[in-house]
Amino acid sequence: MSTPTAARPTATTTRLAHLVDEVRQAVERGLPPDLTAHLVGEALGPHLGAADLLTEEQRAGDPDQYRQHILHAERDGSFSIVALVWLPGQRTSIHDHVSWCVTGVHEGRESERRYRLVPSAAGAPPRLVATEDVVNEQGDVCGFAPPGDIHRVWNACGDKAISLHIYGADIARLGSSVRRVYDLPADR
Ligand SMILES: [Fe+2]
Repeated sequence: MSTPTAARPTATTTRLAHLVDEVRQAVERGLPPDLTAHLVGEALGPHLGAADLLTEEQRAGDPDQYRQHILHAERDGSFSIVALVWLPGQRTSIHDHVSWCVTGVHEGRESERRYRLVPSAAGAPPRLVATEDVVNEQGDVCGFAPPGDIHRVWNACGDKAISLHIYGADIARLGSSVRRVYDLPADR
């Protein structure tokens, strides 16, 4: 499956504008990536599940693949906020990321498998060993920073799932947060 891209940010809500202000305050402190991700996660948590966070358009899915709505891209490129909308069964490739990332489940439930890249014997390609399976429930927040951020995410519930993702990069310019897609032997 290809990685979805989206156009410039769409119209915002008052609650999303507050979230943008709170994330900006955290990012402007200039702390190391892991600490920045922690502070951004604290800002995101209280907004998850709020009915006035997203517009109807920002909650729309795509029957062909999970859909990315860019909600905000900071002018100086220091952070972006996107909503990912997953219909039942939709999933990502195995990938890692260009920057620190904070995710929070706004609606539904997401499943995640995390991997580590392991060298193989001489001449053979490296392979991906599964290290952890996680179910992220509505309201759960996760933060991480490269390296060691290889994973696959999917919607394993019977309804639509929506998650908010905040990245330390300009996703409107880059198109997506994916640094690399891993097409290697992997634990299923
Ligand atoms: Fe990811």
